[in-house]
Amino acid sequence: MLITPTRRSFVAGGAACSASVLLPMASHLAAADTRPQLQIPPELFSDGKGEIHLAAQSGTMQFGRRTPTPTYGFNGPFLGPAVRLRRGEDVVMHVKNALPEPTTVHWHGLIIPGDADGGPHQVIQPADTWRVPLIVDQPAATLWFHPHIYPATAELVIKGLAGLLLVSDEESDGLGLPSHWGVDDIPLIIQDRRFKPDGSFFHRFNLAAVTVGYVGDTPLVNGSTYPIAKTAQGWLRLRILNGSNARSYRLAASDNRSIHVIGSDGGLLEHHVSMNELLVHAGERFEVLVDARDGQSFDLVTLPVDQPIMRLPPFDKPLPLITIDPTGAEGAGTLPDALVTLPSIPTTPPPLSQSLTMNMNRDDEGMGALMKAGLKKLTDGSTDASVAKKLTEVIVDGPTLSQAERSTANGVNGSSFALDAKPFSVKQNTLLRWRIDENSDTMLHPVHIHGCQFRVLSMDDNPPPAHLAGWKDTVAISKGGVAEILVNFPHAAEARTPYMTHCHILEHEDSGMMAQFTVS
Ligand code: C2O
Ligand code: CU
Ligand code: CU
Repeated sequence: MLITPTRRSFVAGGAACSASVLLPMASHLAAADTRPQLQIPPELFSDGKGEIHLAAQSGTMQFGRRTPTPTYGFNGPFLGPAVRLRRGEDVVMHVKNALPEPTTVHWHGLIIPGDADGGPHQVIQPADTWRVPLIVDQPAATLWFHPHIYPATAELVIKGLAGLLLVSDEESDGLGLPSHWGVDDIPLIIQDRRFKPDGSFFHRFNLAAVTVGYVGDTPLVNGSTYPIAKTAQGWLRLRILNGSNARSYRLAASDNRSIHVIGSDGGLLEHHVSMNELLVHAGERFEVLVDARDGQSFDLVTLPVDQPIMRLPPFDKPLPLITIDPTGAEGAGTLPDALVTLPSIPTTPPPLSQSLTMNMNRDDEGMGALMKAGLKKLTDGSTDASVAKKLTEVIVDGPTLSQAERSTANGVNGSSFALDAKPFSVKQNTLLRWRIDENSDTMLHPVHIHGCQFRVLSMDDNPPPAHLAGWKDTVAISKGGVAEILVNFPHAAEARTPYMTHCHILEHEDSGMMAQFTVS
């Protein structure tokens, strides 16, 4: 099921590592009958009483023709509904924990006070319900929610706990963007998994995991492998969430059509940015428009990325993630010339008030084990099956770590996260400049900050590329890189419920690469 004839022909044709590889259309459509349809998460609005009910629960899912997989989900067996919020709306979220273990639920990207944020201090015990008021006051955006319990976020997300949180507002309503849910406004939650022979998800917190994070071998889009989406014929809006624990995707259309980026993590850009490939790191979201007025079917593929371990097969070649078949009724949305107006960046930025340095304490050891298994071969582009096998062994069966080794494997500013670690303090309602960097490790870290949407001032001393110049809550640094950001925290976060800042590689976060802070 995983290797369909379609995929095989694509991969064979894609050896040149280029996005502009066309599928033979005949086999493409012939195979369509046996392929899963893209699942569209149901929308969930607040009810007549201004309440939204979520339940984290366990279930079972069948992925392809595999043995059924034990899973977790919100209001269903895997992933969750798309929660719809409107700017200016007050809702009360009711989050029931029907799991056999404690969890928390964090609203990633929502600008709300610390006591509503759902961080690791706000544990919901099994059978309990967390009732939390949310006051929505931020621009339209594609956000998401997921567990944030220390140190088990990675494991709970792997099991399936993640959902979209969509904020709408009047300004974006007036733009004529495609907005027919599941028809020309299509959510794409991209994740990777590895399955064990008994059908369950692989997850292990070993040396390889604290070094490079989760390395899956099966991409999933909204919980299906290589699904096909029947959409409107016209402009399509894709709301892309990289909900993977660690993997970055380099997205392109198989026929090389343009990807017009209209929005980033926290909202719409001023103008669209047309690209042929779009890099999306763990935790990030982009809204993009693609022109499918021609009614021609195409694939969204992911191209090999820079991180060598993430080039393990099948990610060593352009890998199709989903087929878009835009042969439905004509869509009504368009690509507007101008989108929204963003606050201008002050010419003199405020003084630097906070530095965050990501630390990897076991980088040498972890990379050493992977190097010994032949990691370098992957950068040369050779995907010798025996090298791939050895590397997979390090990922799956490599050295385990004790609890103490695990919780100190990574850090921020020289210390590893602990629930009782002393928070740093931040001034509320003030424009601040922060600097985010890493020591000198070889990993890429998508660094996320709670309680805000920020603007990137610079990346490695250069202005950010246009598609990263809007609202962001996650910024990636790599290869000894530095990012500077302009940020403001409009709400308070007390010491009992501080905000978090962390690497969104969830295995890094769960092994200490997280810090907490108060805002007052
Ligand atoms: Cu998406 Cu602190 O997390
Ligand atoms: Cu967050
Ligand atoms: Cu990291």
